Amino acid sequence: MYKTYKTVLGVGIMLGALYTLSSNISRSSGPHKAQSISAVGPNKSHQSCSVCHSGGNYSPSMTISLKKDGNAVTTYEPGETYQLEFNIAATGSPAAYGMQAVAIVDKDDSNAGVLTADITPNTHISGDTYFEQSQRNTNSKFEASWRAPAAGTGSVSFIGIGLAVNGSGTSGDEATSEVTLSIQENISTSTLEGTNTTVSVYPNPTNKTLNVVLSNPSNISLVDQLGNVNINIEGSTGEQTINVEDLAPGVYNLIISNDAEVIKERVVIQ
Ligand code: HEC
Repeated sequence: MYKTYKTVLGVGIMLGALYTLSSNISRSSGPHKAQSISAVGPNKSHQSCSVCHSGGNYSPSMTISLKKDGNAVTTYEPGETYQLEFNIAATGSPAAYGMQAVAIVDKDDSNAGVLTADITPNTHISGDTYFEQSQRNTNSKFEASWRAPAAGTGSVSFIGIGLAVNGSGTSGDEATSEVTLSIQENISTSTLEGTNTTVSVYPNPTNKTLNVVLSNPSNISLVDQLGNVNINIEGSTGEQTINVEDLAPGVYNLIISNDAEVIKERVVIQ
């Protein structure tokens, strides 16, 4: 009787130890990958790290920056690749750090662009969406590559949250509050030099009006990807302001034509 009890107890302790071990490994190997936990995510689905992580004495704070060739940028060029950098500053001597971040399109809360690779060791991209630690990290800097979305996406936000941890294998560590970095799409004026005509177009992308400045009288048309002519203005001169508010979002061809030439420019309506 006594012997049976000991065996049962022994198996129970072993199972308990195995459970603790596996849950420790899995939980610190990335909140999304290991536990499907998103501090933030598409459609702002949300479960903050601080639901489970709190206490500690490290008072961490986090900064996010987007860089091109080592220099911080405030706008992105569609399709270009950037480095996304997260830094966690903390007081005291944390044993390690952890984090999670996402890139979101401001206008519809969908994923923005593609997190293509992890630059920092001990991180991974989980579910194509979450950039996070793959184990607690002794370095407080986390970096990933980010490929910017297509033209017309508009402003995006990088939302991240970080932890300075004591390495205890428990969740009694301190979560920082969310940090957001907003980056605008680069909206520029295109100046097109024809043989006889100079055309300026701004802003591009646009969502309300498109301004076309002509040095010579010309016809202006806006043609969608299927070849439908959505706007046609004959004999325009000087500056023309075109209302594009009612056009479906997408990429259009702006065609400027006169007796001497035809000039084309790609215009994005958001
Ligand atoms: C549902 C509860 C829960 C949430 C939410 C959660 N974690 Fe954890 N996390 C845990 C538990 C439990 C542990 C302890 C087990 C371990 O260390 O593996 C842990 C451990 C960790 C560790 C290792 C801690 C140490 O001192 O060893 C890091 C780093 C970490 N989590 C990061 C995060 C981040 C970043 C978030 C938010 C994006 C997050 N966690 C959200 C439950 C959670």
